Amino acid sequence: MKQNNKWNAQLYDDKMDFVADYGKDIVSLLDPEAGENIIDLGCGTGDLTSNIAQSGANVVGLDASLDMLEEASRKYPQLTFQQADARNFNFSPLQDAVFSNAALHWIKTPEPVISSVYQNLKPGGRFVAELGGKGNVHSLIQGLIEVLENEYQVNTRDAHQRIPWYFPSIGEYTALLESTGFRVTFAQHFDRPTVLPDEENGLNHWLASFSGDFFPEFSNEDRENIYEKVKKKVRHPLFNGKEWVADYKRLRIVALKESHTFT
Ligand code: BEZ
Repeated sequence: MKQNNKWNAQLYDDKMDFVADYGKDIVSLLDPEAGENIIDLGCGTGDLTSNIAQSGANVVGLDASLDMLEEASRKYPQLTFQQADARNFNFSPLQDAVFSNAALHWIKTPEPVISSVYQNLKPGGRFVAELGGKGNVHSLIQGLIEVLENEYQVNTRDAHQRIPWYFPSIGEYTALLESTGFRVTFAQHFDRPTVLPDEENGLNHWLASFSGDFFPEFSNEDRENIYEKVKKKVRHPLFNGKEWVADYKRLRIVALKESHTFT
C-alpha cells in the first residue's frame, strides 16, 4: 500500500507481481548488452533490474522508496540499489541507457524527470520506458471520484486533485522528449486489459496497493468500506464474471540522446 509515500513492498510483490511480468516485454525493447551501464529508474522490488542484469549489463536500480529498496536488496543482494529522486539524480559514469517500467506515472511533473534522464545519458544513449498512457485506468478513477463525491461529500475539484498519476498522450510525451533534445525512435499507446490476480479479491489488492492518495483522511476500516463501494460502481465494466480486468493503457517509448545536434 502506498500511504504517505510509503509502499507496502510485500503486498506489492505478493499480489502485484504481474507488473514485473508484463515489464519483461519492455526489457526486450531495451535489448541490454553485456558491459553496458544501465539505470533502472523506479526499480521497485528489483525484479526487472535482475532481469536486465542477466544480460551481463552493469545495472543499478534507483527508487524513491526505502521500503521497496530494502526488499529489492533482500531479494537480489548481488545487485546495486540506491535511493534517488527521478526528478533530480546524478550518476557517474554517464549511462548507455535509462530504463523505466510502470514508475514514471507516479510523478506529476514530467519535465524534470525527462531532463534528469537526458543529463545522465551519454551521447547516443537511449531512454526506454513504459508508463500509463492517457485514459489509463479511466473507469477506476471515475469510480474512486464518484465514491468520494457522492458518499463522502468531497467536492469535485478536491477529488480530482487527489489523482496521484500523470498519464500523458503520445503527442504530449514525445513533444516533451523532443523539446529536451531527444530523438524519439519508437512510441506506442495501446490498450492492455490487465487481469488482477486472486479473482474477486483482485480489485481489493489493487486498491490497497495503489489508491491510498485518494483517502488520506480515512482509517483502514473506512477504506475497506470504500473499496466495496468502488467495486459496486465499476463491476460493470471491469468484472468478467470470474476476475477483475483493469482498463490499462500503456505508453511505450524509445528515445535517443543524439551524438550530434541537428539544426
Ligand atoms: C499502471 O501501471 O498503469 C498503474 C499502476 C498503479 C496505479 C495506476 C496505474
